[in-house]
Amino acid sequence: MVGVVESWGSDCAHGWKHGFRCGILTVMSETTFHTAITYTAPNEIQMRGYPVEQLMGSVDFGQAVYLLLRGELPDAKVGKLVNAILVSSLDHGPGAPSVLGARTAASTGAPLNACVASGVLNINRFHGGAIEDCAKAILEIVARADEKSVSLEQATADVLDEYRNRKYRVAGFGHVLHTADPRTPRLFELAKEAGARGKYVETCRLIEAGLAKQLGKPLPINVNGAIAAVLLELGFDPVLMNGFFIIARVPGLIAQAREEMTREKKLRSIIPGTHKYDGPAKRNVPK
Ligand SMILES: CC(C)(COP(=O)(O)OP(=O)(O)OC[C@H]1O[C@@H](n2cnc3c(N)ncnc32)[C@H](O)[C@@H]1OP(=O)(O)O)[C@@H](O)C(=O)NCCC(=O)NCCS
Repeated sequence: MVGVVESWGSDCAHGWKHGFRCGILTVMSETTFHTAITYTAPNEIQMRGYPVEQLMGSVDFGQAVYLLLRGELPDAKVGKLVNAILVSSLDHGPGAPSVLGARTAASTGAPLNACVASGVLNINRFHGGAIEDCAKAILEIVARADEKSVSLEQATADVLDEYRNRKYRVAGFGHVLHTADPRTPRLFELAKEAGARGKYVETCRLIEAGLAKQLGKPLPINVNGAIAAVLLELGFDPVLMNGFFIIARVPGLIAQAREEMTREKKLRSIIPGTHKYDGPAKRNVPK
């Protein structure tokens, strides 16, 4: 195996400015891996082929995230929907497990990156990380309806019966605080505007109705469930989906960790639910 040295030194391929020998050689060999995400060369960065300086100021964050994950830019309505998904999950209060993780780390004197990492580690099946499993449940029901040639209603009832027998909680439904998640109808409304409201959103609603019947009490589609249905409509792979909550939550974790660092006593006992809000009173977003 003879490698070909592409470059090193002050004009190396990494695009770094070196006043000294780089020491990292770019070698074309059997170990070379291929990537279709970002091309870099000295003074050039292209994401999925688009120069970053053209994307800056032309597309919003949601569109750029879609581009990175899917390879193509979305149309304006889909971009607006993806943006709304990201805004929906920025933060939902200091009692959320991810926020408690970030605040606990901040109270120990951890730097910002460790606070964010602590918060992200708490995004799991029952908090923020229910999107992937919810999408899989929806896909299971849709596949069952096709295979057995039964209605989506029948397939939903059958799958929910199996879940109940296994004592399996359906991801994306229920909430510790909300009996109606305010984010869900708005996401479905934007999905309709984007032409992304079909059998997956319908199945999500059928699960909600089926669970209410099964449990004898309403169990709302939470934001994770709504995101799962909408991302399926957009053709995303379930394996990627929890990433949307992670991407969205990072600014919230930074804000919460910073507030903990600047307002609270170090190493305090953080008791969930004991906080008192003293921010701005409810106001409307300017039109
Ligand atoms: C969010 C969640 C943890 C809230 O739990 P909770 O406060 O204990 O829920 P409730 O008190 O309203 O309901 C308790 C009962 O309702 C039922 N229930 C609640 N959520 C359920 C779900 N997703 N699927 C099926 N049954 C559920 C169970 O019978 C439960 O009884 P159990 O404790 O004996 O198992 C729970 O609804 C859940 O696990 N949801 C799925 C995970 C999820 O979507 N997480 C993201 C939240 S944004």
